[in-house]
Amino acid sequence: SGAEHSSGKRILLAKPRGYCAGVDRAVDTVERALETYGPPVYVRKEIVHNHHVVQTLRDRGVIFVEDTSEVPEGSLVVFSAHGVSPAVHEEASKRGLRTIDATCPLVTKVHKEVNRFARKDYDILLIGHEGHEEVEGTSGEAPDRVQLVDKPDDVDDVEVRDPSKVVWLSQTTLSVDETMERVHQLQERYPDMQAPPSDDICYATSNRQVAVKAMAAECDLVLVVGSQNSSNSKRLVEVALQAGASTSYLVDYASEIDESWLDGVDTVGVTSGASVPDALVFQVLDYLQEQGWGEVEEVTTANEKVSFALPRELRKDLPENS
Ligand code: F3S
Repeated sequence: SGAEHSSGKRILLAKPRGYCAGVDRAVDTVERALETYGPPVYVRKEIVHNHHVVQTLRDRGVIFVEDTSEVPEGSLVVFSAHGVSPAVHEEASKRGLRTIDATCPLVTKVHKEVNRFARKDYDILLIGHEGHEEVEGTSGEAPDRVQLVDKPDDVDDVEVRDPSKVVWLSQTTLSVDETMERVHQLQERYPDMQAPPSDDICYATSNRQVAVKAMAAECDLVLVVGSQNSSNSKRLVEVALQAGASTSYLVDYASEIDESWLDGVDTVGVTSGASVPDALVFQVLDYLQEQGWGEVEEVTTANEKVSFALPRELRKDLPENS
C-alpha cells in the first residue's frame, strides 16, 4: 500500500469493507419488489441492520414491522437478510401473506446444518449473540436441540445428552478470534465435539476483520461506519482495538464524529460494516479532509467477487428475467 512511506495526517481505508453479497441482494430485493408490485411492501424487521438503508427505504414507501401479525392479510412481506424460523414461515402462510425471502444464502446454509444435525439427533451448540435476529431464526429450526452459547460463562451451563453427538455451529457475523476461544472452551468439556461442515462465519465478516487488523496497529483512531445493532460492524471496533488501534468508534454518519476524538491523532483508519453503503464512508473521508487529513491510502487484503441471485419468488415476476 505504500503506507510506510508517508507521514503526518493520513487516512488508511480498509478493503474489503461495506456491502457484502447478502446485503446487496436483500436491499435490491426490496427495491425491485417496490418497483414491480408497488407500495405497500412490508418488511419483517430491518431488512439489513443499517439506519440509513432502512430510513431510505421507509421514505420510498416500505413499511417495516416487527412481526408478521402486523401485516394485513393478503399483503406482500419480505423477510430480512438475517433469516426467519420455520414458525414465521408457517404463520405467514396461515395469514395468507405473499412472501419474498431475502435471507442471505449463507444464513440459510447454517439453517440447513442445524436441520441436518438435528435429524441425526445431535445436540447443537450455537455460538452467537443472545437476542440477535439471526440466532432466533437459526435456533428456530430445531428449538429442542439448539443451545445458545454467547458469553464465556455460558459454556458451563451447556448440558448435552450424549457427549459423542455434539456439534458447534455459529452465527455468521461473529468475531473469528472470539468464536475460536469459545470453541476451545467447549472442546475442553466435549473433546469429541464436531465442527461445522464449512465455516459458518461468512466470508464478508472474516474478510472485513482481516482488513481492519492489517491497518489497526498503525492507527491512532479507527472509525467504523455502521449501526449500533449491526453485529459485524460492532465486531470491527473490537477487532481494531484488539489488533492495536489506540481508539475506535462506531458511527452511523460523519456527523456523529466527536471532534475531541481527533485530538493528537495522525493516522485514522476507516472501515465499514457489511450493511453500510459506501456513500456513508465517503462522507466520513470528506469530513476528515475538511479537518486537515489529506492522503487516503487503501489497505487491501482481499478482492471479493461473491454475488447472489435474487430470490426466485421475485425473479419470476421481473420483466427481463434478471
Ligand atoms: Fe450474508 Fe455474511 Fe452478508 S451472512 S448478509 S454475506 S455478512
